[in-house]
Amino acid sequence: MMERIVTEAPRHPLTLDGRDASNLRGDPITGDRYWSREFAQKEWDHMWTRIWHVAGRTAELAEPGDYVTHNFMKESVICVRQDDGSIKAFYNSCRHRGMRFVTGSSSVNEFHCPYHGWRYGKDGVVTYAQDGHDFSQGDPCGKLKLRELRCDTWGGFVWYTMDDSAPSLAEFLHPIPEVYQNYPMDTAVRVVWYRIAINTNWKFVTDNFSESYHTRTAHPQVPPWIDQDVDTARHEMWPGGHGRTVQPMRPSLSDRLPEGVPHPYDFILRQWGIDPESYASYEEKAMQGWLDLKAAKRKLWKERGYLHYEKMNDEELTDSPHTVIFPNVTISFLPDNIIFFRSEPHPDDPEKSFFDLWCMAFPVEGQAEVESIMAGPKPLREVEQPEIREFDGGRGVAELAGQIVYQDMELAEGMQAGMHSRGYQDAYLPGQETRIRFFHEVLNDYLEGRR
Ligand code: FES
Repeated sequence: MMERIVTEAPRHPLTLDGRDASNLRGDPITGDRYWSREFAQKEWDHMWTRIWHVAGRTAELAEPGDYVTHNFMKESVICVRQDDGSIKAFYNSCRHRGMRFVTGSSSVNEFHCPYHGWRYGKDGVVTYAQDGHDFSQGDPCGKLKLRELRCDTWGGFVWYTMDDSAPSLAEFLHPIPEVYQNYPMDTAVRVVWYRIAINTNWKFVTDNFSESYHTRTAHPQVPPWIDQDVDTARHEMWPGGHGRTVQPMRPSLSDRLPEGVPHPYDFILRQWGIDPESYASYEEKAMQGWLDLKAAKRKLWKERGYLHYEKMNDEELTDSPHTVIFPNVTISFLPDNIIFFRSEPHPDDPEKSFFDLWCMAFPVEGQAEVESIMAGPKPLREVEQPEIREFDGGRGVAELAGQIVYQDMELAEGMQAGMHSRGYQDAYLPGQETRIRFFHEVLNDYLEGRR
């Protein structure tokens, strides 16, 4: 008997309609939010120091002593795998006189401070201090410990918060882990890792990833394989500030490539044994082909080594839920890829930020190379160090020209400049951009002490 295809996954009970502005207060999105130092300071005081941050991938902390460093604005935090398998997070500040003693990521038995030689165990306790007898407060060895932060994991990511009384990571993310429980995220391999300095406020990135209204204009290569019609997408948001747009990965019916141009969707259908010529019309190929693709993946995943499909539902097998985790992390959950995007503020200048791009792919038996979606084909192996770049009008990442993220970054400076104009007072948003105002309202909730 044919398996029934379910095109839409059930909605989580907390889901709000992300296209319905009546769910919002209507707070204005004013320009000063993007350039004011005072506003940036409020973000640090009331939001960045209270949320959960991603420090790295759990794959980077495979063995005891493996650590990652996360520098965020003027703060620095290290996360270290312990002998018992747990992960601890510490401020990267020596208890002697405050030296930042670690950079980057590596593996140690002990941390060494380069200034006066204090040493710390993986558990953060001081193991050696020169002239220990000379401290009237007592020998720091075995007594002092690096200041610890709360640390947890989800999705193959290591998270920490600077707030001792913040909600747990599970509460902060809720209901994201439940919504994405079918993806074996721990198994995804990071094949691309960029950190790119851009001349825009960090919020441009979250705004940009909270809507797909810009895609037809900014990314004309996308509609042939991800349906951009507003009425076929699902716009969802959740009370914690998170939200997503779920779009079918099939051609938009209103955007057609000219006759004779090779169609990326035909390639996808053929990959799964479906003849794109077997459909009577373009519409039938888009709509019936999409259902046939789900059925083919459901039937063939195991024999073709797509083991990450095992628990995915019919929607997840073919569609594209593009998801913003408040305030600055976006994850695209594609059938074969997890793309992580993040923006972080510059420590001194609210008109600058850093854009992180991590492309991750699920291993497929027999495939040594994967399509990273945002940066082209890559070997399936974990990248160990980031590419640190300046966008510099595109010159700093010339190899990404034409890619979706490059096109987004090209728009960033123009948006930043526009935020200074007296002609701009608030955004004028269609329903499908409701999540942008939602993001700013949740941010206001933090800044004004409502969260
Ligand atoms: Fe680290 Fe002195 S500041 S040992």
